[in-house]
Amino acid sequence: MARKFDLKTITDLTVLVGTGISLYYLVNRLLNDVESGPMGSRSKENRTKQDQQWQKLIAKSPDLADVDLNAYERSILSSVVTSDEINISFKDIGGLDPLISDLHESVIYPLTMPEVYSNNPLLQAPSGVLLYGPPGCGKTMLAKALAKESGANFISIRMSSIMDKWYGESNKIVDAIFSLGNKLEPCIIFIDEIDSFLRERSSTDHEVTATLKAEFMTLWDGLVSNGRIMIIGATNRIQDIDDAFLRRLPKRFMVSLPRVEQRKRILEVLLKDSKVDEEHFDIDEIASKTRGLSGSDLKELCREAALTAAKEYIRQKRQMVSDGKNGNQPGITIRPLKTSDFLGMAASGEEVSNSIELD
Ligand SMILES: Nc1ncnc2c1ncn2[C@@H]1O[C@H](COP(=O)(O)OP(=O)(O)OP(=O)(O)O)[C@@H](O)[C@H]1O
Ligand SMILES: [Mg+2]
Repeated sequence: MARKFDLKTITDLTVLVGTGISLYYLVNRLLNDVESGPMGSRSKENRTKQDQQWQKLIAKSPDLADVDLNAYERSILSSVVTSDEINISFKDIGGLDPLISDLHESVIYPLTMPEVYSNNPLLQAPSGVLLYGPPGCGKTMLAKALAKESGANFISIRMSSIMDKWYGESNKIVDAIFSLGNKLEPCIIFIDEIDSFLRERSSTDHEVTATLKAEFMTLWDGLVSNGRIMIIGATNRIQDIDDAFLRRLPKRFMVSLPRVEQRKRILEVLLKDSKVDEEHFDIDEIASKTRGLSGSDLKELCREAALTAAKEYIRQKRQMVSDGKNGNQPGITIRPLKTSDFLGMAASGEEVSNSIELD
């Protein structure tokens, strides 16, 4: 009998201890997840990165040394780029000169000469700028070049990542975007895919989304519009954006598919460092036969052309080696580019163009 009792106690005890241990690990795991959630404060790697980024910003503007950041603001630091780190300038953008000069007036001057704009209420800088148009035509490039040329810090936010990653915490993140922007001024807050977030509000919106949009608008209105913080949005689908948000983006720039003379300028920019065969290269012909291609398609076209020449060079070299000659002897070089290198590809690009464009 005594033995039976002993066995029962031992079994009970084992179950108890086992449950205790699993419970401990479970709670521990959950706590870890929560702590490393939106702010990533648990992850050492993240923390080091954030610290490095913050030190970089302090090196650029020493005043920031006295500024404190909360955990949410720190989590956005990885999306901040300083103007020295951006390697795109207006020189690298082809065919958009009139738009660039308009952008100077709406963005660069308010950021670099706030005194002109803050003294006269009529001249108030726009609270936001919207770049819209088909993909691959240079919207992101323009926003980066703006940050570079104005010397502003650049916070680049992809709304979908905020909505996905930090759904429950989105409000705090949105708060932090604005407050970090304030601390880092002059600053451009660039919101890519703005349509995915600011689309028409509807009664079926999830509660979180609805409050987030309201929060966003309040913060936006509260931006002291001295022009030192600028919101730039980019979208492919302007028709999806809510009117209330559009009102806050009074300056809108359409970045459309390039016309023939714009394509020529883009090609000139893209090929500025490539050697071309003076006799067999006609940039006008390429520009006129690439109807319907975007800037990014043209870049791909140039890349393919350069690759064709490089492949020929490699083939020749391998041939020489297999013929038993010294492959390193002078004489063969990568040949300059010809029109035909481009137009083989453009022919297939033509399909894309049929439905669009208007040269
Ligand atoms: N006007 C242009 N001049 C020179 N290069 C261009 C131009 N437009 C596009 N490109 C090339 O295409 C690439 C993609 O452009 P970008 O990322 O700015 O497009 P986007 O308009 O932001 O597209 P998406 O709507 O898909 O985000 C650039 O990195 C650049 O190489
Ligand atoms: Mg883009």
